Amino acid sequence: MPSALRPIYWEDGKVCIIDQTRLPEEKVILTFSDYKDVAQAIRDMRVRGAPAIGVAAALGIALAAQSLPALDKAEFIRRLDEIGEEFSSTRPTAVNLYWAVDRMLNVPRDRLDQDVEGLKKCLMDEALMVLNEDVQVNRTLGAHGAELVDDGDTVLTHCNAGALATAGYGTALGIIRAAVESGKNVKVIVDETRPRLQGMKLTAWELKESGIPVTVITDSMAAWIMKKGMVSSVIVGADRIASNGDTANKVGTYGLAVLARAHNIPFYVAAPLSSVDLTILDGSEIPIEERNPEEVTDIDGKRIAPQGVDVMNPAFDVTPAEYISAIITEEGILRPPYLQTLVQAEAVKSSRLKTCIL
Ligand code: MRU
Repeated sequence: MPSALRPIYWEDGKVCIIDQTRLPEEKVILTFSDYKDVAQAIRDMRVRGAPAIGVAAALGIALAAQSLPALDKAEFIRRLDEIGEEFSSTRPTAVNLYWAVDRMLNVPRDRLDQDVEGLKKCLMDEALMVLNEDVQVNRTLGAHGAELVDDGDTVLTHCNAGALATAGYGTALGIIRAAVESGKNVKVIVDETRPRLQGMKLTAWELKESGIPVTVITDSMAAWIMKKGMVSSVIVGADRIASNGDTANKVGTYGLAVLARAHNIPFYVAAPLSSVDLTILDGSEIPIEERNPEEVTDIDGKRIAPQGVDVMNPAFDVTPAEYISAIITEEGILRPPYLQTLVQAEAVKSSRLKTCIL
């Protein structure tokens, strides 16, 4: 089953991304040699999905660093911080963005031995590490999560938490890929995911390309499909997970979690630890992006809503931890109480990384 989709990569000194706004009609690769265009591609959702945004920012900062003129080191670091700020302001909810920016901006602080030319190389190496680690992390969390999927299951997912939303393989879809790779028959039902239709345009495309059976429903059909006994589990991705397990993901996720509880269906969140924000206690502190009302009022550039009507367009919602049966990470399947299990998982991961460095 092919899963070699490369949604974002570095080639010939440029950042390359699949333009997600053009799928499924056409697969267009955009190549950027100016970091400002990478930042704009994040704003325009040409690259989207929490881990993919983080990887794009890391590559964008490395790209910017390569083209900074010969500066003294203090000035180089000051410019780098400004560029980091530019990336941080592109989208507010996915914490992977800030995680990746911090990781890049820490390079000069961690490599005091390096001059400006040396730092440019270290920044490039770090960005490529962010990219390669993401694929590896997804494969690991996929293998953990596959244990929760039985032969013959039908998994409901929302939005796109696939290869396209990451550096490759995917989180929620990574679990489905891993289950299929281990020989299980798995079917997927995907919500169309209004207003941007990531489920219908991206998830359905990606699964079809991979030969995994997929059925698209409109968002409002999920309750009935569950009631009819057609859903074995719900698996979604995450944009930010608070210390207590409250999880921000694409708007509509919270509704699915409530429905899953009402129908006694397990509801799983699949995410790398880079999506966990231990600086906040609960979901009330997660900033929710409010997007352009035209995403709601217009379909394919044509206005559908009456002129002058009020519109709300929160791009994400927060699912309270009590509705989440497990959070699947590269450190394994975490169960409540998440305050304890998330902190433990972070500690285990950082102690393993320290051991690797020593
Ligand atoms: O607004 P988007 O398309 O960037 O939102 C994407 C999502 O909500 C995804 O479900 C989430 O980032 C998980 S991606 C592995």
